[in-house]
Amino acid sequence: MSDPKTVVLGASPPGASDPVAAGRAVREMFTSIAPRYDLLNHLLSFNIDRLWWHRTARAFAEALARPEARVLDLCCGTGDMALALYRRAGTASPQILGADFSHAMLQRAREKSAKTRLRWVEADALHLPFADASFDLVSTAFGFRNLADYDAGLEEILRVLRPGGECGILDFGEPRGLMGQLYRIYFKRILPAVGTLLSGVSGPYRYLPASVERFPQPKEMLDRMRQAGFEGASWKPYTFGIAGLYRGKK
Ligand SMILES: C[S@@+](CC[C@H](N)C(=O)[O-])C[C@H]1O[C@@H](n2cnc3c(N)ncnc32)[C@H](O)[C@@H]1O
Repeated sequence: MSDPKTVVLGASPPGASDPVAAGRAVREMFTSIAPRYDLLNHLLSFNIDRLWWHRTARAFAEALARPEARVLDLCCGTGDMALALYRRAGTASPQILGADFSHAMLQRAREKSAKTRLRWVEADALHLPFADASFDLVSTAFGFRNLADYDAGLEEILRVLRPGGECGILDFGEPRGLMGQLYRIYFKRILPAVGTLLSGVSGPYRYLPASVERFPQPKEMLDRMRQAGFEGASWKPYTFGIAGLYRGKK
């Protein structure tokens, strides 16, 4: 039997045999769909993704209202979560930074945010180029699930948070009941077929349902957050639990 301490729980795209290969495969996957990522995101989620980013930003209204706050949006992709935080912050204007390891995704974020004060950094969420205790809020939307090592991801978030700082992890879940059954048909059959057709790339939209299935259920994820050292860990389901927001404090 394998030693549980040596078993890394994280994203495992097909063909990736270790965390380094998994990270590389994830980066290549998002880079390959970057040109059509936004269009497909909105289409395949029936635009509900906008509502989820908005709700997440609203959940952190208090931190965003402080002009001196420093905010990091990890795995920012084409920037929609960071843009939602920016809009929520309004004139308080805290410093908001987005980080992602896919250059192509960041390029789109830059184009979309040209008229804002948002800043973007090319960086791996598991090895962030920031000093300890640099941020008051670290958010991440639909990115954490793609990390090659979830516990290392939580540790790195905790490291860059200031004492009292907050973390918000928005990601997909698996709804239960009748809604869950209907959703599974959509998510596992229709979405991969349509996503593959429209993106012209075969891997990513098949990987998506597999990665959600592999991602810890809320109870396990909350245990991992507590073990990492987060206080007041909580999960709030969005839209029948199709998505949900994990929160915790340093
Ligand atoms: C599903 S997209 C989410 C993008 C955006 N946050 C959103 O809500 O649309 C996941 C993003 O996570 C990024 N990502 C995955 N693993 C990463 C890592 N280890 N370091 C930095 N970015 C990562 C990918 O490049 C991709 O842009």
